[in-house]
Amino acid sequence: MTEQDFIPKPYLSDIENGKVTWESPSNIALIKYWGKKKDQIPENPSISFTLSNCKTITTVSYSKKADTSSFEFDVFLDGKMKDDFKPKIQTFFERIEVYLPFLKEFKFKIETENTFPHSSGIASSASGMSALALCLMSIEKQMLPDLSQKSFNKKASFLARLGSGSACRSIEGDLIVWGENKTVEGSSDLFGVQYPYKVHENFKEYQDTILLVDKGEKQVSSSVGHNLMHNHPFAKNRFQQAHDNLENLKPILESGDLGGFISLIESEALTLHAMMMTSMPYFILMKPNTLEIINKIWKFRQETNSNISFTLDAGANVHVLYPKNKATEILEFIKSELVAYCQNGHYICDQIGFGANHIK
Ligand code: PMV
Repeated sequence: MTEQDFIPKPYLSDIENGKVTWESPSNIALIKYWGKKKDQIPENPSISFTLSNCKTITTVSYSKKADTSSFEFDVFLDGKMKDDFKPKIQTFFERIEVYLPFLKEFKFKIETENTFPHSSGIASSASGMSALALCLMSIEKQMLPDLSQKSFNKKASFLARLGSGSACRSIEGDLIVWGENKTVEGSSDLFGVQYPYKVHENFKEYQDTILLVDKGEKQVSSSVGHNLMHNHPFAKNRFQQAHDNLENLKPILESGDLGGFISLIESEALTLHAMMMTSMPYFILMKPNTLEIINKIWKFRQETNSNISFTLDAGANVHVLYPKNKATEILEFIKSELVAYCQNGHYICDQIGFGANHIK
């Protein structure tokens, strides 16, 4: 498929006004997307677990307007007007207008809330941009009633990508691949696809406890970080490594090899941060407590033979990943040994999820 395939046919029916609500989850990458080309095309493939509890709920109200020369919208977070969100949404609308040609014909009210604290350091861009893309798709669907569920999801993912790359992996679950590669048939740079191969029971209901080490604003945004992969001395090898890791992950997922899974995802997490530390300018997003937690996890794993592991996002928080059948003892360990390293003792219990839901 190409970008052109997402330009819609002429709309069949006219709509005046209405309201639509979607909730969409966050996701956590196992193989990381870091580095992009123009139009949010990834430099390497990534794969993520869709989450379940960390979600954004977005309602878009729309009404037809006479002047179609510019976009018109207001944004609210938790009921309060958020003008500082507008530039990002303006850019998003500019990027997607060609694919949703009705955008200038309506005035929109975008009301959004997150199930996780806004200032938790958890990226809300994946859940937020996917929820918004889905609301806009529901509006388009009213004018194109024949659109199949499959095409709807694909285009929602395609649009979400143009808001925030990783957002394209939040439409469906439970394992989503984004970025063209030879391992996963049907994979694309343009949208996320469900991982199509066998996944062992060991990875069903996988748990993710997110330890909130630092809830502050990141010193370096993801978009600046992605751009620093241009002319990065290790970029070429890193992009190839992501392809190789995806190939290596396939037999791990199929056979339920938890040891292999742990080595691969922890290496991916540390490689992501190694890329940041070796950029020019270089930067560090981990905090001392991030490293304290990693060392405690390694010690606990060595002492108990447990299948506990970690991954990191572009930030200081630690995602502790483990199989459901070990949840009791691992949560016990988290509470007794790791929570002390979290800001105000805060952490969020989540698990693998199955994608976004249309509320009304
Ligand atoms: O979607 P962005 O542009 O915020 O980038 C996200 C990048 C990572 O979270 C670090 C990795 C990933 O694949 O989600």
